[in-house]
Amino acid sequence: MTELWLIGIGTGHPGHVTLEGRDALRDATTVLIPRKGAGKEDLAHLRHAILNGAGATARVIEFDMPVRDDSLPYQDRVARWHDEIAARWQFALEDAPDGPVALLVWGDPGLYDSTLRIAARLSPAPRLRVIPGITALQALTAAHAIPFNTVNGAVVVTTGRKLRDHGWPAGAETVVVMLDGECSFRTLDPEGVEIWWGAFLGMPEQILHSGPLRAAEPEIIALRAEARARHGWIMDTYLLRKQ
Ligand SMILES: C[S@@+](CC[C@H](N)C(=O)[O-])C[C@H]1O[C@@H](n2cnc3c(N)ncnc32)[C@H](O)[C@@H]1O
Repeated sequence: MTELWLIGIGTGHPGHVTLEGRDALRDATTVLIPRKGAGKEDLAHLRHAILNGAGATARVIEFDMPVRDDSLPYQDRVARWHDEIAARWQFALEDAPDGPVALLVWGDPGLYDSTLRIAARLSPAPRLRVIPGITALQALTAAHAIPFNTVNGAVVVTTGRKLRDHGWPAGAETVVVMLDGECSFRTLDPEGVEIWWGAFLGMPEQILHSGPLRAAEPEIIALRAEARARHGWIMDTYLLRKQ
């Protein structure tokens, strides 16, 4: 593989793919698609629908995503997992035709996504091209029709784990939380905090809720649990702001 294109596809709406992304999908020779296992079939279907919509004629090669070894400490577990994914890309592409290889990356390749870190493990290193995509942050603020930041205000984008472990980030008026399977907003003092929450942003199943954190907290916890049980999985993001 001499050229690898990472194409941001947005957060689940086929219309999130930019014109630049569509052109790249049409121009790619090979598209590499991960098989993520039970429960995530909808996402594989979405990737195929995006390819069809773009009129892509590339050869599609699928590979099975490896499973993380939970017995290892966090950093080692992630590093080994990335090594294994890079090895599977190389194995899957052994007989691929010459020409650019494309990967459809959820949201934007630069935000809480390790595709660039995995690509850095490839040897020989391919030429990289990154095509930006709509992030979950943009999908969330657009769905609620709110600005990302206050006037001249700082925003911290963080994870549920960091919010739980360290509380409200110093100096931030606005905090956006991703990768939170545990409703970590529960650990905050709700006084003066508003929340804008969204699940399945951009998809037909999209759910939104917002309000003062104290009142919204139990409602979001219930909505999230119910949606997760119904679909078998969930992706959600929220924005917190101190008034
Ligand atoms: C591994 S990160 C990928 C982020 C992605 N690269 C982006 O640009 O948005 C996955 C997290 O993104 C958020 N996310 C992605 N898609 C989402 C969606 N459709 N609705 C709500 N949150 C989403 C969730 O917080 C999820 O835990």
